[in-house]
Amino acid sequence: MYLKLSVIAALAAIATAAPSTTTATGAPAAPSSAPSVPAPLIPLPPFSGTLVGAYPPQDKIAPTDTPLVKQWLQELNLTAVATWPVVPFTASGAPQNPKAIPAASCDWTETGCINKDMTTCPLGVWGLTYDDGPTVYSGKLYDFLDTTDQKATLFYIGSNIVQNPALARRACGAGHHIAVHTWSHNPSTSLTNEQFVAEVKYTEMAIKELCGFTPRYFRPPYGDIDDRIRGLLWAMGYTNVIWDYDTNDWMMAPGGTRTMAQVDAAFAQWIAAAPADKTGHMVLEHELYQNTVDAAIANLPKVQATWKTMPVSACMNDAHPYLEKNITLATMNGAKTGVDNGTNNSTTSTAASGAGSSATGSAGSSTASGTTSHSTTGSGAVANVAVPSVALLAVAAVALGQMMLF
Ligand SMILES: *[C@@H]1O[C@H](CO)[C@@H](O)[C@H](O)[C@H]1NC(C)=O
Ligand SMILES: *[C@@H]1O[C@H](CO)[C@@H](O)[C@H](O)[C@H]1NC(C)=O
Ligand SMILES: *[C@@H]1O[C@H](CO)[C@@H](O)[C@H](O)[C@H]1NC(C)=O
Ligand SMILES: *[C@@H]1O[C@H](CO)[C@@H](O)[C@H](O)[C@H]1NC(C)=O
Ligand SMILES: *[C@@H]1O[C@H](CO)[C@@H](O)[C@H](O)[C@H]1NC(C)=O
Ligand SMILES: [Zn+2]
Repeated sequence: MYLKLSVIAALAAIATAAPSTTTATGAPAAPSSAPSVPAPLIPLPPFSGTLVGAYPPQDKIAPTDTPLVKQWLQELNLTAVATWPVVPFTASGAPQNPKAIPAASCDWTETGCINKDMTTCPLGVWGLTYDDGPTVYSGKLYDFLDTTDQKATLFYIGSNIVQNPALARRACGAGHHIAVHTWSHNPSTSLTNEQFVAEVKYTEMAIKELCGFTPRYFRPPYGDIDDRIRGLLWAMGYTNVIWDYDTNDWMMAPGGTRTMAQVDAAFAQWIAAAPADKTGHMVLEHELYQNTVDAAIANLPKVQATWKTMPVSACMNDAHPYLEKNITLATMNGAKTGVDNGTNNSTTSTAASGAGSSATGSAGSSTASGTTSHSTTGSGAVANVAVPSVALLAVAAVALGQMMLF
């Protein structure tokens, strides 16, 4: 069965409510022994400590009747969006009738169908992603990533961004690749077009206000997506990112009963299998709980010793994964991260580069499949064997007495 994120968040809040460790800006107070945070690589806009945007209530499906949402809907051209019906979900977050979902809607969670989604990185590369942040546990993860100057893709929940704005700004400034994971973490196919647009755009708005840039990458909660949701994402300018390896860290306490040893064993198995890999990977991890952050920290050095680790934007050689093309993030060859304010004429990576990566496009030539690995299957409904359907996972989770959350 599934458990809604809000329930999990409440459990996590109870588990961590003890000492008051939150500053006025919602960031966890740094323990005195914490390493100092490096100066931002990406310049951030001024921030008073209080968001000024008109954001909707947290952890609830974003409203569709606000002036902002009406404006967003007016600006979008949705005529090409597929008309598959909204999928009814149970209160606990599973499709009410999975068998009724039409195969032609290319629903990934039920059939593994891929349509221009990113699911792997090129051979030898591990796409490092952490979902569901920022949370009060994120600072520890970001500290650890800083020790090896490691960048990751962070799929942020809008409600969590407005609760932890200082952590969001830290990650943005550090040059992590910031991406959208909806406002309230509900299954995307359970939402109307208008609700889904609102969920993405309010999250985008929070990132823009705090970080000064507009994200262009998205990961659906639970991997729940079909061609209707993809059409909405494309209309909003987004690339959809799934995964091929699931650490199942989301099942660790308080989300479930998965142990650290079980999560470690999954990493060990993938590392052992790496010499026979046919592709690189795109891996599902979370900055959701103390446990998931601890598992991430314990296993990252071993992963770094086995693969080139980088954000998913870097494994696609996309130096410009934001709407603002003057912001440059690291690419496959580790190109520098920063902002091109027009005074640096020594490269071609300026705002005019459109599709991005013009300055670094050839850098990934050691892995020729780099920029196409995410879209080679077209709409042909190719099942990803590494990923069982949610229905199967749900059966397994019920059998284990565990709850679905990812
Ligand atoms: C909206 O998109 C459709 C199909 O993608 C296109 O034919 C049409 O010209 C677009 N309309 C506007 C106003 O751009
Ligand atoms: C980047 O471009 C945006 C407009 O797209 C502009 O508002 C912003 O000031 C630029 N940033 C820098 C540092 O030049
Ligand atoms: C542009 O960036 C360069 C190098 O970081 C810096 O020296 C310069 O002051 C910046 N110019 C503006 C107008 O921000
Ligand atoms: C950068 O190059 C453009 C086009 O060649 C030129 O117009 C501009 O003055 C240059 N800017 C600087 C700061 O050198
Ligand atoms: C200017 O571009 C070069 C070449 O990509 C890069 O090495 C350098 O760091 C850039 N400088 C700034 C201030 O962005
Ligand atoms: Zn999630």
